[in-house]
Amino acid sequence: TSLRKHPSEHMRSNLVMIVAGTRPEAIKLAPVFWWLEKIGVDYVFVWSGQHYDYEMSRVFFEQLKLPEPDVFLEVGVQASNVSEQVGLLIQKIAGEAKKIQPSFVYALGDTNTTLAAALASAHVSRPFVHDEAGMRSFDMTMLEEVNRRVADAVADLRLAPTKLAIVNLLYEGVPRSSIRLVGSTAVDTLIYIVSNKLQKEEVLSELRVEPDSFILVTLHRRENLVDERLHLAISALVEIARAFPDFKIVFPVHPHTRKRLEELRLYRRLERDNVVFTKPLGYLEFVALLQAARAVITDSGGVQEEAFVLGKRIVTLRRTTEWIETVVLGYNQLVGLDDVGEVVKGVVAAIEGRPLPVPDLTRSPLGDGRAGRRVAKIIQTLLESGIERRGDEFKIPILTKEGSDVSLCFSADGFPVVENVSTYCISRERIIPETLRAVIEVNWEEVDRRM
Ligand code: UD1
Ligand code: UDP
Repeated sequence: TSLRKHPSEHMRSNLVMIVAGTRPEAIKLAPVFWWLEKIGVDYVFVWSGQHYDYEMSRVFFEQLKLPEPDVFLEVGVQASNVSEQVGLLIQKIAGEAKKIQPSFVYALGDTNTTLAAALASAHVSRPFVHDEAGMRSFDMTMLEEVNRRVADAVADLRLAPTKLAIVNLLYEGVPRSSIRLVGSTAVDTLIYIVSNKLQKEEVLSELRVEPDSFILVTLHRRENLVDERLHLAISALVEIARAFPDFKIVFPVHPHTRKRLEELRLYRRLERDNVVFTKPLGYLEFVALLQAARAVITDSGGVQEEAFVLGKRIVTLRRTTEWIETVVLGYNQLVGLDDVGEVVKGVVAAIEGRPLPVPDLTRSPLGDGRAGRRVAKIIQTLLESGIERRGDEFKIPILTKEGSDVSLCFSADGFPVVENVSTYCISRERIIPETLRAVIEVNWEEVDRRM
């Protein structure tokens, strides 16, 4: 039985307000909702409507049994550009938070909805919990990098999916008491579907593709949809389709990409027997394709994670990734979208490479499939014990050698001379590739024992 009530009945009661509004958030929040229901935690679910097409939102509610939102904001349809979208999102989410007065607000990831949830929480003085905290691509031209940095800065508690995410946060001066390691909930959703064999394999025959003889492509990042890069991506796909006539290319097209391909009249160039376009697919169909694909070409964050968990070779159409572990472990190549030859070379290597093992989940750097349980338990604990807005964040790290007095020296240009950042046992510079492999693994059993 559901504990959930109408939002007006929630006033002054002890509950969390969960905010989401896009495809990846729907998919990644599913396990959090499953666990909240299981352990009997009350929540209000606000769906921003940033994504609004059936294929980008509703389908995931149906397939992953997400709860009906208590509040539906329909921001996506109203906004005509990013600034307007973010403005409306902040205004409307803040309005709801003011009405509902939750104990705290929880959101995940790096979308405009996440950013707005973080800022709205600050505006109405509610504590904010950010999941998928500490992810960094170190590329501030990506809106997502801006969003996640702001969300992390505003957050009162930060749930990190990986150990490197913790390093990133510490390196930015975030106190360790505000961070928990939970893993990525994307792993939970995927493992649940695959281990219960819920993926829809019929999609293979519907699209007339055979296992292991096609490449799955997704492309939607705003910075990759500019004329030059989109032209380049299509040229690379044409070359790959020509070079591997026995292979198919399956490309479920994000609505934004569809719009851009139409504007640039690029669809024509890919009219070939071995190129299959589809509308965005449901998660169960998409997972079936991922599992059967020989390799994956993508600029998506979530798809990189999922392809890694399934042991697929990934060619990432970006110069950086926040899921650096997938690169370190040899599953992912970052090729960017600046040179057709480089993309094609990457894809050839992926197709011709020997199969890679499916990673052992118990020590997997991205999570063991139990992140949703950890998140739900943390939410439960916070509701019981309370959470305050932190006012004392970002203290100047003590820049001194261990054991010695604070010694902050300045050079002639006015900058402090940093001898040793002893507050952290690892800093980014000290992580060298050979040791990285060992560093990124997580003993999840131990994490749970200490939680
Ligand atoms: C957003 C996220 C991105 C995430 C992606 C998941 C931000 C800044 N980015 O990007 O991190 O990877 O979602 O897919 O929030 N559109 C539709 N129907 C829809 C949704 C979008 O037609 O249901 C079209 C609209 O033309 C819209 C455009 O896609 O303007 C972009 O959508 P938007 O939500 O602004 O950003 P995404 O590119 O989807
Ligand atoms: N996905 C899907 N259907 C598709 C393409 C992707 O269900 O046609 C899923 C995919 O499995 C992953 C998520 O959507 O879980 C990734 O979303 P997206 O690439 O839009 O966003 P990102 O992860 O880059 O933020």
